[in-house]
Amino acid sequence: MNNIIYLDAAASALKPEVVINAETKFLRESYANAGRGICARASNVDNMIANARAHVAKFINAKPEQVVFTAGTTDGMNRITRIINDKVCGAGLKNKTVMVSDLDHHSARLPFELLYDSDSCNIVLCPMDAQYNLMCSDMPYADVFVITAMSNVMGIPQDVAGLVAAARKKNPDVITVVDAAQYVVHSEIDVQKWDCDFMCFSAHKIGADTGLGIMYIKNPERWISPDKFGGGMISKITGSATEHDACFQWENAPAKFEAGTLPLTQIIGLPVAIDYLSANRPDLNLIKYLYDRLSENHRIKIITPRDSTLLTFYVPDMHILDFGASVGARGVCLRVGNMCASWIHRALGLNGTARISVGAWNTMDDVVRAADIIENIVG
Ligand SMILES: Cc1ncc(COP(=O)(O)O)c(C=O)c1O
Repeated sequence: MNNIIYLDAAASALKPEVVINAETKFLRESYANAGRGICARASNVDNMIANARAHVAKFINAKPEQVVFTAGTTDGMNRITRIINDKVCGAGLKNKTVMVSDLDHHSARLPFELLYDSDSCNIVLCPMDAQYNLMCSDMPYADVFVITAMSNVMGIPQDVAGLVAAARKKNPDVITVVDAAQYVVHSEIDVQKWDCDFMCFSAHKIGADTGLGIMYIKNPERWISPDKFGGGMISKITGSATEHDACFQWENAPAKFEAGTLPLTQIIGLPVAIDYLSANRPDLNLIKYLYDRLSENHRIKIITPRDSTLLTFYVPDMHILDFGASVGARGVCLRVGNMCASWIHRALGLNGTARISVGAWNTMDDVVRAADIIENIVG
């Protein structure tokens, strides 16, 4: 197991020791539920969760009440779709136009595609240039704009602020939703500079634990009703007990968007992971080395540019799954297939690709060994 070369950071990051230690210490010494108790131990957990939220807020340049804990990017994007469809647009998205793009991960685009399938919205595409970057020019009108800040196949940061501004020129009321699941690993997020309405990412891709994500909401009080219901999100019920005419008063944000017990242990690890990531971003010279070396091999076709955060490629003479199985059998963990990004693969005219991505744990020795193995397999 220890001979494995883990080059699949973009799927999920390995966990730094400091994160494991923080979570273990919490479980051993401080565990209690949050938002439900007044004893010293419960209050301490409340403070830890509040501190974690404040840490995330600072990390993305937001206010703590704009930061909602979710189960991950997929959960965040599905919730945002529901929030927009049910609450923001009044009568829903029917006859409204949602702009998506071929860079989108299934998590970002499918929730809106399914509304389209049930005739509940129109879909248009954000134009891309020849390098598959989203274009601020020639953009169609949209009521909602889903922006992938960095594709998990192409690995290039998009001009989110420019795209938001361009969409607003066409429609000042456009609702902008940013999927920052890959972007957050490599670049600082500033939601105020982006000026987006929603943004989400997953904790597990930045070295924190699974089952946790962040959903940023620019105007959390403007969206009147929450989208999930349960403990911790109403402040009181009013009305009489006998006539069953209860109505509810929601807690203020973010509590009203956080029904039920939060993933406490994962939240405790998140600020530690953020600090670790900020000091230890992946070394992209490893990707450049692989690019320079593997592009010499005429059997390998690289589709990402040299300055990408990833190396995505295919081997025309080999089925991509055979290639993945062969490198996997020799201890190299990389991703093969459509990477839950079918639209960009369709645009590229490919059924699947192979992707190498690196994290802080990777060394030059890892990529040299991986390149040796890949060259050995493709010939
Ligand atoms: C760009 C992008 N968006 C969304 C997701 C979904 O993230 P999760 O599976 O953590 O919900 C991923 C995961 O690979 C991704 O790369």
